[in-house]
Amino acid sequence: MNLLEYYNKAIDEHFALGSINFSNMESLQAIASACKEASSPMIIAVSEGALAYMGNYCTALAKTAKQEHPQLFLHLDHGKSFEVCKRAIDLGFDSVMIDGSMLAFQDNILLTKKVCDYAHKKGVFVEGELGQIKGIEDDISSAFHSYTEPSLAKQFVEETKVDSLAVAIGTSHGVYKYSGEQTLRFDILSELERLLPSFPLVLHGASTVDREQIEIFNNYGGDLQKANGIPKELLVNAVKKHNIVKINTDTDIRIAMTSQVRKTLSENRREFDPRKYLGAGREEIKKFVLDKIYNIFFSNDKI
Ligand code: G3H
Ligand code: 13P
Ligand code: ZN
Repeated sequence: MNLLEYYNKAIDEHFALGSINFSNMESLQAIASACKEASSPMIIAVSEGALAYMGNYCTALAKTAKQEHPQLFLHLDHGKSFEVCKRAIDLGFDSVMIDGSMLAFQDNILLTKKVCDYAHKKGVFVEGELGQIKGIEDDISSAFHSYTEPSLAKQFVEETKVDSLAVAIGTSHGVYKYSGEQTLRFDILSELERLLPSFPLVLHGASTVDREQIEIFNNYGGDLQKANGIPKELLVNAVKKHNIVKINTDTDIRIAMTSQVRKTLSENRREFDPRKYLGAGREEIKKFVLDKIYNIFFSNDKI
């Protein structure tokens, strides 16, 4: 099945595809191995920054991962220009995101449509974004959200012919997601679904920011004091009762890797073999991905 067929199946059966970012071999190995074990499809996502970091190794790593587990889809996360989307499409990505959410509405439409026209000719799927999913940086006490306006979303989808849409309903990128009540605007989601029935919707900024991992991180010399994420129950609701078919996670994987690296190095002060500490991080990421597959995405045994 291609990605769009998986999205449609996910809408019918109320599960989601995880979209997990990777930027090195270990994180990708962990994702592929967890998906293989759980017979789960998954999107492996690469940001512009990760693409620059990995260079040509990116597609080589993804190709190998797909040989290990064929139901992985390579996706460009938050492409900001036509050029970077074109580059990813030409490199053989299965799907790209064009993120024009910072632009004026009409400019976002024009840019997204341009990417769709190019991508669709090559059989590549496109995700757009409307509304702003903001990250909260250290010490800023409240997030500014520009929620997705459902009637504009309908117009956006119709005019661009985009295949899926990232919506802003109260999630945010990074490790500090809420300063007050941890909640999501399910009323906006319901209205989006009324105007765009059976259309694949995407949730960014969906890391749960696990308390135990943060404690390990902090206990071994780190300093992420006020970190918090999206409560698991809200994500489950978005998947089980709504049309969220793609859930993006990067922060959780980064924390899993780094907390284990910190722990391994501090407990073994003579250790200098990268396989030992990166291997510990890889194991932790695999555990996390498995937990998400079974308890948030419900994408196990969907192949
Ligand atoms: O949504 C953003 C991702 O977490 C990518 O972050 O640009 O630092 O790779 P990055
Ligand atoms: P998190 O920062 O919550 O992991 O979100 C990642 C994301 O949305 C990638 O596009
Ligand atoms: Zn994102």
